[in-house]
Amino acid sequence: MERRKITIPDILEMKRRKQKITMLTAYDYPFASLIDQAEIDIILVGDSLGNVILGYDSTVPVTMEEMLHHTKAVRRAVRFALLVGDMPFMSFNIYKESAIRNAGRFIKEAGCDAVKLEWFSGCIEMTKAIINSGIPVMGHIGLTPQTTAQFGGFKVRGKDAETAKKLIEEAILLEEAGCFSIVLECIPDRLAKIITEKLKIPTIGIGAGPFSDGQVLVTHDMVGLFERFRPKFVKQYINLSLQILEAIKKFKEEVIQEKFPTKEHSFTIKKKKSLKKSAEF
Ligand code: KIV
Repeated sequence: MERRKITIPDILEMKRRKQKITMLTAYDYPFASLIDQAEIDIILVGDSLGNVILGYDSTVPVTMEEMLHHTKAVRRAVRFALLVGDMPFMSFNIYKESAIRNAGRFIKEAGCDAVKLEWFSGCIEMTKAIINSGIPVMGHIGLTPQTTAQFGGFKVRGKDAETAKKLIEEAILLEEAGCFSIVLECIPDRLAKIITEKLKIPTIGIGAGPFSDGQVLVTHDMVGLFERFRPKFVKQYINLSLQILEAIKKFKEEVIQEKFPTKEHSFTIKKKKSLKKSAEF
């Protein structure tokens, strides 16, 4: 069957058919192109950009301009996946008008199909305003890196009955507000199962066990390109850092030992005469 662009109704239909949804992050053209070729359903330009690409300590400093710059590069590569832009901290937290304007920039300037918003106490109001303006929204609950300070850092959330109940309520509120899917980050597997069974819209888990409708990972964690910190839930499928380091060391060695460049990587002139001619000229 000929491949066609994935739409939001396709994502909803996948839940109905119990077909697992795959999502990965991308921040540049080459990775986005590979992820799209691998037929991943959703590409998220996550604000994890701040950690894995820009070298910040957290996602908090990431700006709209940084997000848009990277999202535009991703857009140029993506032909089939649904493209979701992650709204950075404070781009949707203050006024409804600025939340709508910033969400609109992801769609109009960067070519996204939807935006993602991390949960905060005023999140429902902002989510409704953005959806009413015609922009599809993906929710995000559980461990929400933009506001972890409130919860005492990077911890699994929903381990006790009270927070578990709160997270179930948040998920229901987001569905009622019109979200087309919800990311569940770092919550116990049984809680993710309960939320997934309660909702009509798909859940996409990260550190939330196997029962969500789909799974997402930060690509740089998965391919071993982010070594500062590796959460328990990450499966590393390849260690690219090691391979790249080996290649760089080899380059240095070969230059020093005059093994590179060889004739194969050099330009030559066949006739001595033509060299003389161009020197005279
Ligand atoms: O920013 C990000 O990469 C995310 C994923 C962890 C879902 O929000």
